[in-house]
Amino acid sequence: MKTTPTEQALRLGSKVVYQIYIKSFQDTTGNGMGDLRGITTRLDYLADLGVDYLWITPFFPSPQNDNGYDVSDYCAIEPIYGTMEDFDELSREARARGIGLMLDMVFNHTSTEHEWFKKALSGDPKYLAYYKFVDAEPGATPANPGKPPTNWESKFGGNAWEYVPSLNKWYLHLFDVTQADLNWDNPEVRKELSEVLRFWRGKGVNAFRFDVVNLISKPAVLEDDYEGDGRRFYSDGPHIHEYLQELVRLGDIDGLMTVGEMSSTSLESCIGYSNPANHELSMVFNFHHLKVDYPGGEKWALAEPDIVGLRNLFGTWQERMTAGGGWNALFWSNHDQPRPNSRFCDTDHYWYESSTMLGLCTHLMRGTPYIYQGEELGQTITDYTSIDQYRDVESLNYYRILQERGYTPEEAFAIVHARSRDDGRTPMAWDASEHAGFTHGTPWLRLVGNYPTINAAAEMEDPHSVRSFFKRLIGIRKAEEVIQRGDVRFLDVPSDKVIAYERTLGDTRVVVQCNFSGDEQPALATEGSEVLVSNYEDESAGVLRPWEGTARIWR
Ligand code: GLC
Repeated sequence: MKTTPTEQALRLGSKVVYQIYIKSFQDTTGNGMGDLRGITTRLDYLADLGVDYLWITPFFPSPQNDNGYDVSDYCAIEPIYGTMEDFDELSREARARGIGLMLDMVFNHTSTEHEWFKKALSGDPKYLAYYKFVDAEPGATPANPGKPPTNWESKFGGNAWEYVPSLNKWYLHLFDVTQADLNWDNPEVRKELSEVLRFWRGKGVNAFRFDVVNLISKPAVLEDDYEGDGRRFYSDGPHIHEYLQELVRLGDIDGLMTVGEMSSTSLESCIGYSNPANHELSMVFNFHHLKVDYPGGEKWALAEPDIVGLRNLFGTWQERMTAGGGWNALFWSNHDQPRPNSRFCDTDHYWYESSTMLGLCTHLMRGTPYIYQGEELGQTITDYTSIDQYRDVESLNYYRILQERGYTPEEAFAIVHARSRDDGRTPMAWDASEHAGFTHGTPWLRLVGNYPTINAAAEMEDPHSVRSFFKRLIGIRKAEEVIQRGDVRFLDVPSDKVIAYERTLGDTRVVVQCNFSGDEQPALATEGSEVLVSNYEDESAGVLRPWEGTARIWR
């Protein structure tokens, strides 16, 4: 079946996805961690917001070394999150409200507690072939294992290979040492994973997110990387399109809503992943726009965001993905990113304007918007003062590594404070009561101190709140075909702090202007238009005010 670009846009462009980081969403048992029943109790809140799908981060059995991204069984429920009955109830109740569930499939690696890996460790050749095991160098012994197969670095710090003395072999882990990379060159592995999709399909699941899925195809020849950390060899790897097409076919998910998380990817590859003619995925997440404040590409260092660079990245991806028939997931925020309002704007002085301008900027682009829990409330990064308050394995590793690189503890803390994944993982702020209504127990991760004012209950009552603004943005997407499927073009502006673009469909035209600064900036002329949505109440001709986001429409 052939899908035309218009059909693609009509199907995907009217939808909005809401991401739930289950551990931090709503606890119903008092163990300090969110759970499946907690999501069910909040479905009315989500239906009121107007979202179509819930992407729920992994709730499968897991030792939780990477908060569930280390899966030890793909077809069961982690007891801290509930039971299969709880899942079935959530699925039923969501469907009754017209909301779909998007499950998070972590198929690049399993936990080392997965039974496949345990069998591999026992020497079973069938399961050794499920992972990327490589023999140690000739003459290697447990006391002196020699060099790892390559110098590739784990994304969480350190070498990406771990030596297993009992096997005299190394296994690859692009992430934590307890997350062993699967061997996708083995057809049995591909078959097993497609059966996982069929299992959840059978339970009525109608959408999937695929974790770091562009890393699954590793090169046949393993070589050291003298230019980088190894990623150029395995990102968008040699058989990636073939493997994705097979997974979609065997898992029977063609036509479902799917999104792939693409790490250090290219635009050309992303057109391939998301052009419907290829029968791979509906859309892609890429992260280039979230590196504009990484000096020289380094995450663990601080710099001001490069707004011109941001504008160019958005412009290139929006225009060229459209031309190539691809489809973008639109987002600033997820469980791996510090809250964007604190990161890119000024939440001390312009909290409302910062939080809403960012929403407006991405929600009116061409693609499918994703809202990360609490983003619709304007939740901010943490106010933590000590490393003991952090839980994330990556943050704790880098706090140590930065000091090994010569930073003082204070300097290392300042970097971790701005960059930590825990900055986006603090519990959802539901109301002003103790622990923000998230739990009756002790929260697994400390709440941000501003929850008595930044919380759902307060914002639900206020027609001028950040949440009301996000609800309006969703309503506009549902109402305006120009937003769902109009063409997109980035506009030249007389300021290096402004990002502007237009959407067009027939005679309808929308111009979006976003001021990424706390100063007034010149605005484009907009005679003959009316306001579609703005984060300032009144109009001000010719200028954009601090952190102003405005969209105007000609009909
Ligand atoms: C993705 C997830 C992240 C996880 C990693 C390894 O990037 O979003 O949270 O740590 O994959 O699974």
